[in-house]
Parts: sequence; structure tokens; C-alpha cells
Amino acid sequence: MFITLEGPEGSGKTTAVDAAVKALEQMGYEIVRTREPGGTPISEQIRNVILDKDNTKMDPRTEALLYAASRRQHLVEKVWPALKEGKIVVCDRYLDSSLAYQGGARGLGVEEILNVNLFATENTWPDLTLLFDIKPEVGLARIASNANREVNRLDLEKLEFHKKVRDTFLALAKRYPDRYVIIDASQSREDVARATLEAITSRLCK
Ligand code: TYD
Repeated sequence: MFITLEGPEGSGKTTAVDAAVKALEQMGYEIVRTREPGGTPISEQIRNVILDKDNTKMDPRTEALLYAASRRQHLVEKVWPALKEGKIVVCDRYLDSSLAYQGGARGLGVEEILNVNLFATENTWPDLTLLFDIKPEVGLARIASNANREVNRLDLEKLEFHKKVRDTFLALAKRYPDRYVIIDASQSREDVARATLEAITSRLCK
């Protein structure tokens, strides 16, 4: 099973999923935890180019192609082999992030970005996508108050950009209701973690 975690900045998805993954491991499931962009040496190198705050001249299509390139390499080296071995892959961000950030917020068009990504992924869709939904005002305030989190090039975008990211994610949840579960990330940490575990276990039992 291929599970992806999506959401705007500061949604707390990583913390929530850490707890859920621990619980699942205790139940005996074998889980590969990974992230995008990154997750393999080549993909991490691409990540550094994408997120470097000094790369202010990066063209939006270049950005979209780099995300797709990083995604492809990560699938080949890490995700596909793990799925083949019957493991559960839990990936922080995937194709939907490109649709929301590059397609929606950057204005390149969701369909255009989808086409690039269908080429990159050879139509590999997640079985379950958890959308940690939060208003951008709240998410960005959380990031600002977290001194341990490094601010990247995308974080520096204006509020309007992050609103478009959220709206596109919500539209995607409507478009793909079979794989999407929306989690209200404005709840307490404990409630978000509980909802996360519930969403995953109910899909595993299907
Ligand atoms: P990261 O530090 O991993 O952020 P987060 O903790 O929010 O996941 O940085 C990844 C950034 O890249 C984040 O701002 C979202 C953005 N992104 C895209 O714009 N397109 C994509 O396809 C992906 C995977 C991420």
C-alpha cells in the first residue's frame, strides 16, 4: 500500500504521522517512511537545487520538472522496490503537491502538471492520500513560531500563494474521493494523530 501525506505548510503532518507509523509498526506492519522531494541521494541533490533560497531566478517550469525528476528517481530507487516487497510506503508529499503548488499556486495548470507527472510516475497513484487541511494563516504562524524548522524557497511565497495551494488540494480531494481522506489539522496534536491512525487502519482493513 502506497500512502501519501499532503497539506499546506505548517499542517503538522510529519508529527502526526510519526505517531501513526509507530503504532502501525507495533501492530507488526513493515513500513518505509520517506519524503519528497528527496528520499534517495540523487533526489536529495535535486531537492537542494529546488529549495535553495538563493535560486531566485528559477523558472516555474524548471521547478515543476525538477520536482517530477526527483519524484521519478525516488520511485525507481525506493518506492517501487518497497511496494514490490509488500511493504507499506508512507511518503511525505507526492504528485498532489506538484498539482497544488506548481499547477494551482504557480498557475502552470493542474492538467499540464498532471501530464508531466504521469510521464514521470508511469501512472503510479497512491492508494491513500491524507490531506492535512489547515488555513494558511494558521499554518504559516506555526512555522514562524518553530525555530527548528528551516525556512525554504516555497515557504517564502506570499499568503495568496498558500491560499491557492490549499484551495487546489481541496479541489483535488473532491476530484479523487476514493483515495483522499481530509484530516482537520487545526485540532490538537492528539486528535490529529488519532484521526491519522484511524484513516490508515480503516484503509488497511478494506
Ligand atoms: P519541506 O521542507 O519538505 O516542506 P514540508 O515540511 O512542508 O513538506 O519542503 C518541501 C517544499 O516543496 C514544500 O514547500 C512544498 C514544496 N513542493 C512543491 O512545491 N511541489 C512538489 O511536488 C513537492 C513534492 C513539494
